[in-house]
Amino acid sequence: MEYLIGIDLGTSGTKTVLFDTEGNIVASALVEYPMYQPHNGWAEQDPADWRRAAFETLKTVTSEVDASKIRGIGISGQMHGLVMLDEEGNVLRPSIIWCDQRTAAECEEITRRVGAERLIEITANPALTGFTASKIIWVKNHEPEIYARCAHILLPKDYVRWCLTGEFATEVSDASGMQLLDVPNRCWSDEVLEKLEIKKELLTKVYESPEVTGFVTPEAAEQTGLCAGTPVVGGAGDNAAAAVGTGVVKDGKAFTTIGTSGVVFAHTSKLSIDPKGRVHTFCCAVPGCWHMMGVTQAAGLSLHWFRDQFCAEEMREGEARGVDPYVLMDQKAAEVPIGCNRLFYLPYLMGERTPHLDPDCRGVFFGLSAIHTKYDMLRAVMEGVVYSQRDSLEILRGLGVEIEDMLACGGGGKSPLWRQMLADVYNCEVKTVQSKEGPALGVAILAGVGAGVFKSVEEGCDKLIRVAKTQPPVAEHVAKYDACYRMYTHLYPALKDCYQELAQL
Ligand code: XUL
Repeated sequence: MEYLIGIDLGTSGTKTVLFDTEGNIVASALVEYPMYQPHNGWAEQDPADWRRAAFETLKTVTSEVDASKIRGIGISGQMHGLVMLDEEGNVLRPSIIWCDQRTAAECEEITRRVGAERLIEITANPALTGFTASKIIWVKNHEPEIYARCAHILLPKDYVRWCLTGEFATEVSDASGMQLLDVPNRCWSDEVLEKLEIKKELLTKVYESPEVTGFVTPEAAEQTGLCAGTPVVGGAGDNAAAAVGTGVVKDGKAFTTIGTSGVVFAHTSKLSIDPKGRVHTFCCAVPGCWHMMGVTQAAGLSLHWFRDQFCAEEMREGEARGVDPYVLMDQKAAEVPIGCNRLFYLPYLMGERTPHLDPDCRGVFFGLSAIHTKYDMLRAVMEGVVYSQRDSLEILRGLGVEIEDMLACGGGGKSPLWRQMLADVYNCEVKTVQSKEGPALGVAILAGVGAGVFKSVEEGCDKLIRVAKTQPPVAEHVAKYDACYRMYTHLYPALKDCYQELAQL
C-alpha cells in the first residue's frame, strides 16, 4: 500500500490527513490555534502556531504507517495572509490574515497607483482589504522598520512548505489572492509590482498546483516522522483545494462551502472577469484553468461566534453526552419555522466581500421582538449566511456562468439543515461527496499527480471522488425563502451610510 498526505492549514486549526492512493483515510490529526483580534476588524495569527500544528499532526499520522511508502505531500491553506521573514528566516511580525479589514486606505492607494480598470485587467480583482498586497503596503506605511528588514514574503501554507523543504515557493491558485499576480498569464505582474514599489525579490517562484516544489529536509524529517526526500507539491489555496477534493474540476461544476468563511465557487476553463469586481477570478489548481467565486467573510465564523457567546448550555450538554454542540444547535434550529418568525441576520461580523466590498459593515439582527428566543436567533444566523451565499450565486448566474452541478462541503456542509437551506434558497439540487475532507483530499490528489500516481488532476478526481447524497429543493420552502431573501437584500442598502458613520464613531 502507498500513501498521500494532505495538510489543510485552516483558520481554526490545521488538519493533516494520510490517505491511501485509493482515497481512503488511514490516519488524521487536528491541532487548533487562536486568532487574535487586537482591534475591531483586525485579525492576526502566529506562524509559529501553524508550523507547530503541521509538524505535530504530521508526526501523529506518520506514526501509523511505513513512512517510506508516502509518495507525496500537498498543502492547502487559508489564503491571503501575510508572512514576513528576515534574511535569516525569522518571522518579523504576526501574520495579518485574510479576514483582517484594516487596509481600506491602502486599497485606495493601490487603486490610485495602478488605476482601477488596469488593476482588474491584470489581477482580475479590485483592490481588496482581504488581499495580501494591501497588507504589505500597510506594513510599509505603519511599520517601516519591519518592512526594511523583510527579505521574504510568504502565504500561510508556503511558510509551512518552507519549514518542511527549505524552499521559498508558491503556486498559482494561492498567489492569485495576493493581488500581485497577472491572473490571465499566471505569473507575477512586473507592472503592478513596479507601481506599488514592491521588490520582486521578496516574492517566491510560482508553480502550477500539482508541480513538485521541493523535498522534505533531513531536519524536518526527524521532527515529523516523514522520510527525507518526500516530494511536496504546490498544493492550493483552500478553496481551489476543496474544488479538487469535491471533483469540481470541469466546466458546469460548482460548490458551496461553509468553513470559517463561506464560498460559492465555479470552475471555468475560459477566463472571465467580473468588471465590477464583486466576485473573484483566480487561477485554479487544474493547470490552465480558472475559477470564479464569491466570498462571505463570516459564514461558519458567525455560527462559531453565536455558539461561544450564547450556547454555553449546548456546549455543556454536548460535552456530557459526547455529541458535537453544533449537532445539538442544528436540532434546535430545525424546530424554528423558515423566516425565524420574521427575524433576519446580516453576517457582516468581519465586514463583507461579495457583493458589497465593504470593510466597514458589521453584523445585524433585524426584526427582534419580545417573542423571539435564542433559537430564532440561531436559525436566523444560519439563514443569513445562506442568503449571503445566494448573493454570490446570483452574481455568477448574472455573469452567465453555467452551473449544472452544485456540491456542498466544509463544516457547514455536514449539517443536513444547512444543506436543505442551500437547496431551497438556491432552488437547485445540492449534492455531497463521500469524503468529508475536501481541501486535504484535494491537495493529496495534487500530490498524487506530482508524484506520478495519477496522470492528471481530472484523472485523480475520477478515481477518488464519489457522490454520496443529493438533496432536492422543496417547492413550498423555495417560495417562503424567496420572500425572505427579497427582504434580506433590502437591509444592506438601507444601512450603508450608517455603517460609515459607525466606523467614524
Ligand atoms: C478566500 C478567503 C477565504 C480564506 C479562508 O478568498 O479569503 O476563503 O481562504 O478560508
